[in-house]
Amino acid sequence: MNRVEGLEKVTGRATYAYEYTARDIAYAHLVQSTVARGRIRSIDTGAALATPGVLAVLSSDDPPDLAEDAEPQLRFFQDRTVAYHGQIVALVVAETLEIARAAGEALRIEYDAEPHDVRLRPDHPARYRPEKVNPALPTDTGYGDLAAGLANAAVTVDATYTTPALHNNPIEPHAALAVWDDDGGLTVYDSTQGASADRDTIAAVLGLPAERVRVVAPHVGGGFGSKGTTRPPAILAALASRAVRRPVKIAVTRQQMFDVTGYRTPTIQRLRLGADDKGRLTAVAHDVIEQTSTVTEFAEQTATPTRVMYATPAMRTTHRLVRLDVPTPSWMRAPGECPGMYALESAVDELAHAAGMDPIELRVVNEPDTEPESGLPFSSRNLVACLREGARRFGWDLRDREPGVRRDGRWLVGTGVAASTYPSKRRPAEASVTIENGGFAVRIAAADIGTGARTALTRIAANTLGVSPDRVRVEVGDSALPQAPVAGGSMGTASWGSAVVKACEALLKNGEHGTADTTEDVESDSELARHAFGAQFAEVRVDTDTGEVRVPRLLGVFAAGRIIDPDLARSQLIGGMTMGLGMALLEETVVDERFGDFLTDDLAQYHVAACADVPDIDVAWIDEDDPYLNPMGAKGIGEIGIVGTAAAIANAVFHATGRRVRDLPITPAKLV
Ligand code: MOS
Repeated sequence: MNRVEGLEKVTGRATYAYEYTARDIAYAHLVQSTVARGRIRSIDTGAALATPGVLAVLSSDDPPDLAEDAEPQLRFFQDRTVAYHGQIVALVVAETLEIARAAGEALRIEYDAEPHDVRLRPDHPARYRPEKVNPALPTDTGYGDLAAGLANAAVTVDATYTTPALHNNPIEPHAALAVWDDDGGLTVYDSTQGASADRDTIAAVLGLPAERVRVVAPHVGGGFGSKGTTRPPAILAALASRAVRRPVKIAVTRQQMFDVTGYRTPTIQRLRLGADDKGRLTAVAHDVIEQTSTVTEFAEQTATPTRVMYATPAMRTTHRLVRLDVPTPSWMRAPGECPGMYALESAVDELAHAAGMDPIELRVVNEPDTEPESGLPFSSRNLVACLREGARRFGWDLRDREPGVRRDGRWLVGTGVAASTYPSKRRPAEASVTIENGGFAVRIAAADIGTGARTALTRIAANTLGVSPDRVRVEVGDSALPQAPVAGGSMGTASWGSAVVKACEALLKNGEHGTADTTEDVESDSELARHAFGAQFAEVRVDTDTGEVRVPRLLGVFAAGRIIDPDLARSQLIGGMTMGLGMALLEETVVDERFGDFLTDDLAQYHVAACADVPDIDVAWIDEDDPYLNPMGAKGIGEIGIVGTAAAIANAVFHATGRRVRDLPITPAKLV
């Protein structure tokens, strides 16, 4: 089955936020602060407003009326504080984008700058303990006697790993078109991972009842988390549109995106592991330091996968934050699990080496019977099967026992392995299905952010109804449809699919029409540890003269419940692994400590993996029959692909060279 909207997409007929039209559109341009901390002393709009075609300048000179309790990042122009470099300090609205941009440059903004601090460091004096980490998990956890576990261990690892700030780079940067109708209703064509939640946030920020706002987003060119919350264009387009009484469009440029649509926090992670002479863990400690902003708290749950992975008699996980003069970090594919598992799975590899054990065998002997920290039974857990199947497919038994021994001309060659995990949850959703024109129309405010959600839901509906998929039409991406959670946390298909199945079952019972609300089903889900698992294998070649690392082979084997659509699953998993390869070798948002801004703010400088970087990525999965998840038996697959990839590559670099790089990305300079 092809993607149902595939033809529309490849022929350019699929409409994205910025491509919508309305009568008499005006264009707005974001103007950003040029200091990282301080106050706006004055804004001289004279030259900007005198520019022909300029309609309005919005700024803190005339604060718009916004809800007091709204998300602080969306309360624009309420005061004159500058909290980070690149903060939106004004919005210029004009007849054309070019005029808006030119007038933005003509604004004269004076600042009273104050000294800023943008560098995350372990000994930071302002380090503090957040109350919770995302979404509402305990900050610090622990059990057993950690000191004894470490003291009595036959082998130990005590290592600190660092990851840089990373930025989501969806192909489609954030954009919105806002249109007010005559009786005060607002329509926003937005690029969002969830029309229902976006509508609710826009309404709340503007102080409107939710039913007066509609969000339309049928096609979204990627998000990875950066579109999981309402971003500046939606709110600012609505404000500007109200000010000039015309529809207003805003496109965030690629460079602006680095400041105003979130990023993954840098991390400093200390891992301490102990094991007995059989490689069985005696202690696991994972202590994380990460950053947030002075605007609002974002506490990434970096150490949480450690609470899930391995059997140990003693464990501790902690998170500390530092508020810096930076934009607020946000969601980026597998927030928490991705950087956390880079550190844990690197440390496990170091432990295997120290213990003289094969890293797969070390993981197998530490396989837990129940979730280590909670003691809950797993709904299903097939990490060992993934490791074994991956080893078989990858040819792991041919691996050299010692690192740094295999040479091919100038290249050192090595292989590495790491585990993956990601929670499998679902959220309440509503859906409807109606017989129309001899077919079935399924409606749900789900989001297709490039994942193929429409296609997966078409299959799910067809399967439940017992009809061929071509008789099912799925409508998503509009808050006017039955409300649904965001495409996030790898929960989309599980959440939306549960509602679609239930609506289809209602139709089969009633005849013409079926509706569903899964709130009670989700609330009554039994208490179990539900997670997907996987094993990642990498082969690397390291140029001994230049330090260049190439990855000729990546293999991921996953256990993620029932796979609903093999082509879509393959794409998601390969996409995640590709992003993980970028994290391992290429991606890094460099911070300019002097000026306090992000230096690498375009695709020429922020390097994402390109085709030539990924010659051979393969994906396989273990068939998993898990009845404790949802009617489809499916676990999420959107995020687990990125989890563990960077560790597998870093471990392969160690195996190739005998050198352990604990600071991502592994650039040539760190190897020569
Ligand atoms: Mo994803 S970071 O859960 O949108």
